[in-house]
Amino acid sequence: MTHTFGFLIHPLEVADVYRKVPAARHFPDRWIEAVMPLAPPIYVSHITGVRSPYGEADGHFVSVALTPRLMTSLPEARVVAKLVQAGRMAAEKGARILGLGAYTAIVGNAGQDLADRLEIGVTTGNSYTAATGVEGAELGAQAMGFSLEEAECAVVGATGSVGRVAALLLARKAKRLRLVGRDLPRLVRLADEVRLATGVEAEPSTDLHGALVASDVVITVSSAVGAIVSPEDLKPGAVVCDIARPRDVSRQVAEARDDVLVIEGGIVEVPGEVDFHFDFGCPPRTCLACMAETMMLALEGRFEDFTLGREYSLELVEETLRLARKHGFRVAALRSFERALSEDEVAEIRRNADRKRRGRVQVAVGAGS
Ligand SMILES: NC(=O)c1ccc[n+]([C@@H]2O[C@H](COP(=O)([O-])OP(=O)(O)OC[C@H]3O[C@@H](n4cnc5c(N)ncnc54)[C@H](OP(=O)(O)O)[C@@H]3O)[C@@H](O)[C@H]2O)c1
Repeated sequence: MTHTFGFLIHPLEVADVYRKVPAARHFPDRWIEAVMPLAPPIYVSHITGVRSPYGEADGHFVSVALTPRLMTSLPEARVVAKLVQAGRMAAEKGARILGLGAYTAIVGNAGQDLADRLEIGVTTGNSYTAATGVEGAELGAQAMGFSLEEAECAVVGATGSVGRVAALLLARKAKRLRLVGRDLPRLVRLADEVRLATGVEAEPSTDLHGALVASDVVITVSSAVGAIVSPEDLKPGAVVCDIARPRDVSRQVAEARDDVLVIEGGIVEVPGEVDFHFDFGCPPRTCLACMAETMMLALEGRFEDFTLGREYSLELVEETLRLARKHGFRVAALRSFERALSEDEVAEIRRNADRKRRGRVQVAVGAGS
């Protein structure tokens, strides 16, 4: 029997609207953003072919015509009402569980308000996203020739729904952990939680640049509407796993830093012959971890509210890892700025990092002599 899910998406920037409505590019962005809140939800595509040895699922993408800027600036009740409309559209198509993409998972108490108003199950997908983010960072570090146990690590956006769990998972593995955000009291509370759960002393920090330049591994998962990680922020040889959508790492890093490994976090291979009938930027047969969490619940026939709110338990994370293993979801090969990374490219990054570190040592020795 095929079980059906829905998944909410939205344009990450006004330019995404041009792809769907080419005539929109003739108008200023602020005009487009002024009319977007008036648009009804848009049915995008039928997702077919999700199949594991234990079940089959299909799904429906429904888009809400709101950018991250609109979702954070409009009254929250109005945004949630739009999401409810979109969720009902998915339910009318047969969805019995709804996943929330990008900012649709952030507003309305991280999915809770939406779940309270819909008759079908809802999940933000953040449990599996956090788990795959840490796994991606670990794979990145391995590719660069070191382990998390010997690495200074940082989580940016640590007090968020994904960031908190990424921090709890990373604390058990990292040599040292910095928790980075903008609100110090919340970061201190999180550091207390990390200590209680793991015995590890994590360091709260609101100094983004200072924390980044000291870190070998960074998981960045803030809800900033624009890039917050710049070329000058990163240590030579650093691994940055960017889970945020829109991305936290500036594109300039790709041009200016050939000695750091920036990987797209939270991209997952889907079991079966999945066809999304829509290009949302992932390679064929892969999707974002939040979509994968929705799919695995559909494959299981678990039409229940799952990951909701900002403080869900690690048991949910364990459960998604178990379901991922059972159904055959796995973290995809390393990608950087929408491109697959070859082993040769990673080796080149390692060589560039070594050269840069040697250069720094020579400058330091020269300055000291
Ligand atoms: N790849 C995937 O499958 C996937 C899945 C789910 C979510 N995501 C993405 O992950 C990101 C976070 O989602 P979430 O649900 O965890 O959001 P969230 O609960 O709102 O948390 C975001 C965190 O970012 C911090 N933050 C915001 N602006 C910041 C800035 N300029 N500098 C530093 N920290 C900042 C916020 O803390 P303060 O306000 O206190 O600073 C907050 O703790 C979003 O971009 C979302 O689209 C991706």
